[in-house]
Amino acid sequence: MKKIGFIGIGKLGLDCAEVMAENHEVRGYDIYPRASDSVKVCDIDELVNESEWIFIAVPTPHAEGYDGSVPSSHMEPRDFGYDAVIDAINKINVHARESKKVVLISTVLPGTTRREFVPRLARQHQFLYNPYLIAMGSVKWDMVNPEMIMIGTEDGNPNALAGELRELYNTVMQNDPRYEIGTWDECEAIKIFYNTFISAKIGLVNMIQDFSMKIGNIDVDVVTNALARSTMRIMGPKYMTAGMGDAGACHPRDNIALRWLAEEYDIGYDLFATVMHAREMQAKNLAMFLVEQSKQHGMSIVIHGKAYKPEVPYCVGSYSTLIGHYVKQAGHDVRYLDPLADDPAEVITELAEPAVILWAHNRKITYEYTGDQPDTLPYCAIPRNSVIVDPWRKLPAIEGLTVIPYGNTRNS
Ligand SMILES: NC(=O)c1ccc[n+]([C@@H]2O[C@H](COP(=O)([O-])OP(=O)(O)OC[C@H]3O[C@@H](n4cnc5c(N)ncnc54)[C@H](O)[C@@H]3O)[C@@H](O)[C@H]2O)c1
Repeated sequence: MKKIGFIGIGKLGLDCAEVMAENHEVRGYDIYPRASDSVKVCDIDELVNESEWIFIAVPTPHAEGYDGSVPSSHMEPRDFGYDAVIDAINKINVHARESKKVVLISTVLPGTTRREFVPRLARQHQFLYNPYLIAMGSVKWDMVNPEMIMIGTEDGNPNALAGELRELYNTVMQNDPRYEIGTWDECEAIKIFYNTFISAKIGLVNMIQDFSMKIGNIDVDVVTNALARSTMRIMGPKYMTAGMGDAGACHPRDNIALRWLAEEYDIGYDLFATVMHAREMQAKNLAMFLVEQSKQHGMSIVIHGKAYKPEVPYCVGSYSTLIGHYVKQAGHDVRYLDPLADDPAEVITELAEPAVILWAHNRKITYEYTGDQPDTLPYCAIPRNSVIVDPWRKLPAIEGLTVIPYGNTRNS
């Protein structure tokens, strides 16, 4: 049983700390009041001095307007903010009465740890960079079933501390994860380019969806399923279903921040701006389709799902609100149905009149990697004669409703 501390027990840190607490003595410190049944929330002095391992899971936020829930590809590229990490490091320096094993989890751009953090950490402490591949809605499952565990050391060699961290993780993992050991900078890069590969992949399949809508006689799923099965040259089947765009607190903003890095290092091109621009235009195309349906049927537009995915409240980086932005830009109102959304603006709880409804949430597709998942149930009674636009093409024909499988323009 190890003594572990988490600085920053928010959306990521608290669940991870609770997973660790199943086998270890875990403390948590946060600048905001937090509570837990299994993690002892305490002050910074106790956390630092009673913990052998200190995990830092504080935010590395992007500036307002850079999360991807509204258009941003036209805005000036910017780096994330690192004040909270620096504050955590300063606090460890001030409070620690002996050497600590410090592990940074927070997402940062490549090069940041070496430039900003390690020079600030008192030399008596040991340090690893260890970002997590974790998604909201499945934090605890992801924590113990990771695709890989990245451990960054100064020179990229698996030092003794990296070995100890591996042993620590072996006490909580449900799977047998692959370990990737690299320099701090390489692990920063693995984490952030993992995210942008996903964004690019979704951008590509949604591009095929756009073409299927324009050309006709194409079911996007026939195309993407064939590509997904083409494992000789292109990657596996994940993120190969066209639908809503990439979203959430991490992926859009990571691409947005990488634009800054491309400029900073004078790479000569900005693939990330292109990925984000494509994401925005795909959202606009879907918005224009909703507007067209709204005009055709004389019905208002409702988006079923405002949070960036089902089962979570977070509207940060939401593709639904990005689509809503373009609907409003075209002069139409938009309302959202979502019982969990943490942003109440334009959220309704029931529908009195038939509407054009974008079926944004699909639980089965979002969480299929965690095992069999039930379908998303309607968030309220859907009035007869409503038109449902299904960007995932999974809804069956429903009596009394028109269901449009967006991205399938085959006649049969
Ligand atoms: N949420 C995810 O799915 C996810 C996944 C992988 C990586 N990450 C990364 O992990 C980091 C944390 O993300 P999150 O989603 O948990 O953010 P969050 O904002 O939900 O949680 C961060 C917590 O840190 C606290 N905090 C802020 N400044 C602090 C300080 N100076 N000292 C102590 N506590 C402080 C906040 O009060 C908050 O509770 C970010 O870098 C993020 O990019 C998040």
